[in-house]
Amino acid sequence: MKSLITGVAGFIGSHLAEKLLSLGHQVVGIDKFLNNYPRDFKERNHAGFKSHPDFLFLEEDLLRLDLGALLRDVDYVFHLAALPGVRASWGAEFARYSENNIMATQLLLEACKSLPLRKVVYASSSSVYGDTDDLPMREEGMTRPVSPYGVSKLAAEHLCYLYWKGYGVPTASLRFFSVYGPRQRPDMFFHILMRAVLRGEPVPLYDDGEQSRDFTFCSDIVDGLTAAAFYPGSGEVFNLGGGTEASLLTVISMVENISGRRANLQRHDRQRGDVRRTQASTERARTRLGYIPRVGLAQGLALEWEWIQSIEG
Ligand code: NAD
Ligand code: UGA
Repeated sequence: MKSLITGVAGFIGSHLAEKLLSLGHQVVGIDKFLNNYPRDFKERNHAGFKSHPDFLFLEEDLLRLDLGALLRDVDYVFHLAALPGVRASWGAEFARYSENNIMATQLLLEACKSLPLRKVVYASSSSVYGDTDDLPMREEGMTRPVSPYGVSKLAAEHLCYLYWKGYGVPTASLRFFSVYGPRQRPDMFFHILMRAVLRGEPVPLYDDGEQSRDFTFCSDIVDGLTAAAFYPGSGEVFNLGGGTEASLLTVISMVENISGRRANLQRHDRQRGDVRRTQASTERARTRLGYIPRVGLAQGLALEWEWIQSIEG
């Protein structure tokens, strides 16, 4: 089996590559080292498997790459490359979100037309839902993003559906809910919190800390990605959540317990584009993909804390 991963040097892409290599796949990984966070993190993410005999790394931009030849003998495509980050997506930055999240997806799907691919799995986002009282969020529920990032992820999800409908490209879109664990991006809250606690620095806390997320551990997301690839149906959307909604204040106190240190909170206003709550219905993923999140918040936070100590050490 041969798989292609876009965004392979990123947080989730690097975990996925490790799993696919362990399953015996040949893996081609593409990443352009976008400057959304320092290159050092991404180099470290894929250092452990960069020299694996079944892995080929290409430092390339999806917006410029001739994908035709690369895709010829590929069975599975995992499209994780994007410019992530909710709050930074306003204003002039939206051009970069449009290019890397929408345009890059359309170019990839064009290149996938009329190829005998088994599946193209797209990394969508809980941010497509926006703010809603209709909880838990169900795939057939309303999608009304409240950030430009969410709009870009939803647009690319629609493109995946269009290329399935129009050209039979066997796509599946997975809406990930706030992913955490070792290698988490340095712009995400758990990483910021743990780094600050370890260094004895202030923790910027937006809003009142009662905002909550259905936090999902990275290995559960990777299991959902492979399950969606091997699932026979196409053209569908699945939520991948962690199974427990928790507020930031709850997480902060859990991290204080794990670390044995106090968090020095520095309060800031609510940020434009932030949703108040997320909570995933994983019924569809459970019944069709056999998806069951296995890592609870306490265990997952302890694993991320261990990792933060290792990189800060
Ligand atoms: P990440 O930034 O760590 O990884 C994305 C990688 O894609 C980066 O290494 C970047 O350099 C690369 N990339 C971006 N544009 C590219 C292009 N045009 N060509 C080649 N490479 C490019 O982010 P992540 O947190 O691992 O997220 C992976 C995917 O999952 C993204 O699509 C993101 O929108 C989605 N997602 C993430 C989360 C989360 O909580 N982390 C939640 C929902 C959805
Ligand atoms: C995360 C990812 O960053 C997105 O890429 C992804 O698409 C999204 O999940 C998703 O599930 O779809 P988010 O939940 O906003 O987005 O994750 P964080 O950036 O870690 O923020 C979580 C909460 O912490 C937010 O309420 C934010 O305002 C807060 N926060 C963040 C702080 O209080 N302080 C900070 O310094 C950073």
